[in-house]
Amino acid sequence: MSKVLLELKDICKAYQDGSEKRLILENISLSVEAGEFAAVVGPSGSGKSTLLSVAGLLLTPDSGSILIAGKDVTSASKRERTGIRRRQIGFVFQNHNLLPFLKTEDQLSFVQDRGVKDKSKIDELLRELGIESCRSSYPAKMSGGERQRTAIARAFINDPDIILADEPTASLDAERGRAVAEMIKAEVKKRNKAAIMVTHDTRILDLTDKVYRIEDRRLVAEQ
Ligand SMILES: Nc1ncnc2c1ncn2[C@@H]1O[C@H](COP(=O)(O)OP(=O)(O)OP(=O)(O)O)[C@@H](O)[C@H]1O
Ligand SMILES: [Mg+2]
Repeated sequence: MSKVLLELKDICKAYQDGSEKRLILENISLSVEAGEFAAVVGPSGSGKSTLLSVAGLLLTPDSGSILIAGKDVTSASKRERTGIRRRQIGFVFQNHNLLPFLKTEDQLSFVQDRGVKDKSKIDELLRELGIESCRSSYPAKMSGGERQRTAIARAFINDPDIILADEPTASLDAERGRAVAEMIKAEVKKRNKAAIMVTHDTRILDLTDKVYRIEDRRLVAEQ
């Protein structure tokens, strides 16, 4: 039996909208096993980024629980969450979230585990993602796709068990987009990781093992 690396149970999340609370996620449950690549689709504004942020411990749900490798981390302290995120979760943000004052190679070494500082791992990722030429570039001087690939390299740098990618292919052309999804798949299969990718691109869904759709605040399995 495969190990469940990420489990969400009955997650509810509402945002304050003026004087009203607007429910975005309603009793969402999802589990992703080691070696599994899941996709989440749904219309703009349906709550995909919100769901991924909850899974990545960036956002606290109003109710429900989150388990990472079987451990309940729902009420972990801020400090514990930071540690878990750093060691176990690789997050690719929808807006890449690169630090404007760091060159590409420094974006990676900045988040690399202190004890490791393995330059060859940085070189390998830059090569695999085809951004070696951006090694010494600042985000402002790179294309949207190069920034996105840098963000993916950063998410992979500490070899996390869980990869959460929010539209990682959005600013890439079809071919590069597919290559990025293939790379996530390869990481998942080779190193037995669990990944969730939010995407609008139906052409890459064949690379994933399972597709979920957010519809009217709930999560529905598609295949
Ligand atoms: N911090 C916030 N405060 C209040 N409302 C928010 C906040 N963040 C998101 N929302 C609202 O919650 C809903 C879901 O947002 P979310 O970003 O999760 O959608 P999404 O499915 O990722 O959309 P997209 O495909 O456009 O990225 C949207 O209506 C959005 O306006
Ligand atoms: Mg989003």
